[in-house]
Amino acid sequence: MSDSSYVHGYSTTESQRLSDQANTLSHLLHHDSVFRPAGLVLEAGCGTGAQTVIVAPQNPQCHFVSIDVAEDSLVKAEESIKKKQIQNVRFQVADVFDLPFNDESFDHIFICFLLEHLQERTGALASLKRVLKKGGTITVIEGDHGSAYYYPRSSAAQATIQCLIDVQAAMGGDSLIGRQLYPLLITAGFGDISVSPRMVYADASRPEMVDGFTRKTFIAMVEGVREQAINSGLITEADWNKGITDLYRSAGADGTFCYTFFKAVGKKL
Ligand SMILES: C[S@@+](CC[C@H](N)C(=O)[O-])C[C@H]1O[C@@H](n2cnc3c(N)ncnc32)[C@H](O)[C@@H]1O
Repeated sequence: MSDSSYVHGYSTTESQRLSDQANTLSHLLHHDSVFRPAGLVLEAGCGTGAQTVIVAPQNPQCHFVSIDVAEDSLVKAEESIKKKQIQNVRFQVADVFDLPFNDESFDHIFICFLLEHLQERTGALASLKRVLKKGGTITVIEGDHGSAYYYPRSSAAQATIQCLIDVQAAMGGDSLIGRQLYPLLITAGFGDISVSPRMVYADASRPEMVDGFTRKTFIAMVEGVREQAINSGLITEADWNKGITDLYRSAGADGTFCYTFFKAVGKKL
């Protein structure tokens, strides 16, 4: 996958954003990311390992094979686990649509923020199901940009969020994916599915959430599509600048911001 086909790109800024996102959301998304029974876990689309460094140490009973199509990201991921002396992870370059593993090789599958970037979401889930053992589990975590609401309300700010949704859709992705996890897993043939919404809420009484989520995760993600949005004529530069200024107001002293992630767990019956 090249920079041009992945909406957020592979820059150092994006790598930092993924790390801020994972650290801020660590408890909310992963307090229950515990894989039982012990076994082999396939993490697909691990990127720079921002989730890997949280989930792998939480599961010392498991060994992880963490894959991504972006070799450069895996180099960063490898450095990250070495620094933290994590020993139960092996990284490998691989495409989720062409997995170099035998049928039923893994006890658990774990994916986070991957499906939203793929055109063939059911196809990816079917490919992952092939390498999962019968009785094995799949855990899928995705956001849903339609779930963002904030104070003060602003149609200009909403227009910049819509740009992110539209730019990602034009690249074949779907950032309104969280709400679709249940039907996607059903269509892919998984059973025993349970979906839990995980809401992030930030106001000035939670400064770490305002900084880690509102500013450094969400607004940083919207700001990342500035050039694409303006160059493709989705928005004028002036409207973009007003929208971003308004979005930052939701991170101000009297601002609030709300967003919902969705975590689904299913089984290969
Ligand atoms: C938003 S990043 C998420 C990375 C990581 N899971 C995290 O939460 O920090 C999406 C990742 O999916 C990877 N990816 C996209 N298409 C892929 C494919 N077909 N097979 C494997 N990885 C893929 C991208 O290279 C990127 O690293």
